[in-house]
Amino acid sequence: MKRNILITGGAGFIGSHVVRLFVNNYPQYNIINLDKLTYAGNLANLADVQNAPNYTFVRADICDYDTILGLLKQFNIDGIIHLAAESHVDRSIRDPFAFARTNVMGTLSLLQAARIYWESLPERYDGKRFYHISTDEVYGALEFDGSMFTEHTRYNPHSPYSASKASSDHFVRAYHDTYGMPTIVTNCSNNYGAYQFPEKLIPLFINNIRHRKPLPVYGKGENVRDWLYVEDHARAIDTIFHQGRIAETYNIGGFNEWRNIDLIKVLIETVDRHLGNPEGYSLDLITYVTDRLGHDLRYAIDSTKLKNELGWQPSLQFEEGIDCTVAWYLNNQEWMDNVTSGDYMRYYDEMYKNR
Ligand code: NAD
Ligand code: TYD
Repeated sequence: MKRNILITGGAGFIGSHVVRLFVNNYPQYNIINLDKLTYAGNLANLADVQNAPNYTFVRADICDYDTILGLLKQFNIDGIIHLAAESHVDRSIRDPFAFARTNVMGTLSLLQAARIYWESLPERYDGKRFYHISTDEVYGALEFDGSMFTEHTRYNPHSPYSASKASSDHFVRAYHDTYGMPTIVTNCSNNYGAYQFPEKLIPLFINNIRHRKPLPVYGKGENVRDWLYVEDHARAIDTIFHQGRIAETYNIGGFNEWRNIDLIKVLIETVDRHLGNPEGYSLDLITYVTDRLGHDLRYAIDSTKLKNELGWQPSLQFEEGIDCTVAWYLNNQEWMDNVTSGDYMRYYDEMYKNR
């Protein structure tokens, strides 16, 4: 079946893996990647698919309602996979307004444009789908007691980031309940893999170990996160976009919980091994720093529903995923240098200056 699918935030970390998977696996679909190219967007993440005949990139802001409505009409969009967001907790603590703007108002602008466009068509919502990608952080924090977030866990966000994502999730569900829009929401745990912006723990620490820079561990390093390989998340998104039930929520996770300090030691061991350093060589880089404000203690996500209903489960063991990830960052130093120097942004600003 022919489809025209809008993927927002496709130049970011997870979005680029989703775009790549859809462009490669569905040559019969037109994939339109809409991204504002903020500091987190980088078209180098998609260099391998940029000339594919079923791929189009559009630089736009999801908050720009008129532009979004025009694009939905122009490309006859029948499916939306919405990933565009401000995504870093530390930035949300420094600048919460940017998170309310993009995550809340941007999602609302996209929902409203989709509603106006789809309701103007004779078939209305038939064959349409609005799929919103969210996070497990909306559920708040768990104790070290073995409990996990399920799809029924009450929302209890703590950071400006998770509060903005929680708000956007509520708007998406409201568009189903009020207007009958065919929506789906998924809440996923921490992703890791290639092309992640090096402000997040794993790429930041791999790069710092390589350059013998301090590794800033927040608090005592005891916080726990569940980690999922990004390509497994992209596969889950593919499955849920095609087979998920309308108006449902699915949790996506790796059943793979790690205390930060234990994960950091695995990273050190792996990077040292790849660089040929003696065992334990980079342990002295660990530097305990002031804790993040409101730092959520533990996230753990139960994705049994997704496994039972749609047969998805993580494919990679964590040690294997971390090994591939470390190898990728070490072998793609040019990508990392372009990002850390800011060169990638100057290039796009120049390219789009006169448009
Ligand atoms: P990212 O920060 O790497 O990428 C975000 C992308 O959105 C960038 O390309 C950026 O340019 C674009 N963008 C930002 N504001 C925009 C706007 N106003 N208009 C258009 N584009 C805009 O984020 P990510 O880590 O890939 O996360 C993608 C989505 O997945 C987010 O919605 C995030 O909340 C969610 N999520 C992330 C994780 C994770 O571990 N990274 C886990 C669960 C859910
Ligand atoms: P991060 O990658 O920012 O993801 P999130 O906050 O969405 O979970 O952080 C992962 C964990 O690592 C989190 O508990 C905060 C911690 N952390 C550090 O200890 N030091 C750092 O420099 C960073 C970026 C994160």
